[in-house]
Amino acid sequence: MSDLSDIRREYTQGGLRRGDLPVNPMDLFEKWLQQAKDAQLTDPTAMCVATVDEQGQPFQRIVLLKRFDDNGFVFFTNLESRKAKQIGVNSKISLLFPWHSLERQVAVTGEAEPLSMLDVAKYFMSRPKDSQIAAWVSKQSSKISARQALEGKFAEMKAKYAQGEVPLPKFWGGYLVRPNSIEFWQGGEHRLHDRFMYSKTDSDWQIDRLAP
Ligand SMILES: Cc1cc2nc3c(=O)[nH]c(=O)nc-3n(C[C@H](O)[C@H](O)[C@H](O)COP(=O)(O)O)c2cc1C
Repeated sequence: MSDLSDIRREYTQGGLRRGDLPVNPMDLFEKWLQQAKDAQLTDPTAMCVATVDEQGQPFQRIVLLKRFDDNGFVFFTNLESRKAKQIGVNSKISLLFPWHSLERQVAVTGEAEPLSMLDVAKYFMSRPKDSQIAAWVSKQSSKISARQALEGKFAEMKAKYAQGEVPLPKFWGGYLVRPNSIEFWQGGEHRLHDRFMYSKTDSDWQIDRLAP
């Protein structure tokens, strides 16, 4: 077995204090995301999305965050994919932003809710044409025989939509993740990390410090 036990480092970039926390966790999320962008992290909007299947088996994959506001976090995907099928059975979902080069992570739990067709169409129209065509080409998460099949389909669709707009596929959509908890983790010296958990109450957010 490979031994990786000596790969470790101290976390020294700074702490998170209760007095610095805004009432609304989305304000802190916005600030941290901006700092991740400013630090030029690769894919600062990439988040790990966890869903579970009917047997309770979790599965995670990376998806790009495309919008957020006080209602929650939005991503787009194929509505016939594994994740969409799992969300159809169990809408409970978890997101994780792994900003570890900033010694941070943000973990969200919540419920995924399909976006309206209008919201999806608006975003779809804003995508580059090749991405729109790629959405038509890939039956996401299905088994395929070879890459050539994908490339052939791509060329076919590209020719088909050479002129005019690419229509929104019926099987393409997005989700709003309405959070019920958001945890902010900031690495600290001597493994004394700072963790604050915002939990949604009827009208507000409760804030608790968690042990590292
Ligand atoms: C950096 C990165 C960004 C990605 N962004 C998306 C995305 O926004 N939407 C999406 O459906 N898949 C995205 N993917 C692909 C997913 O990780 C995944 O392979 C795909 O959605 C199928 O997942 P599923 O079979 O669990 O449904 C991305 C992958 C990476 C590595």
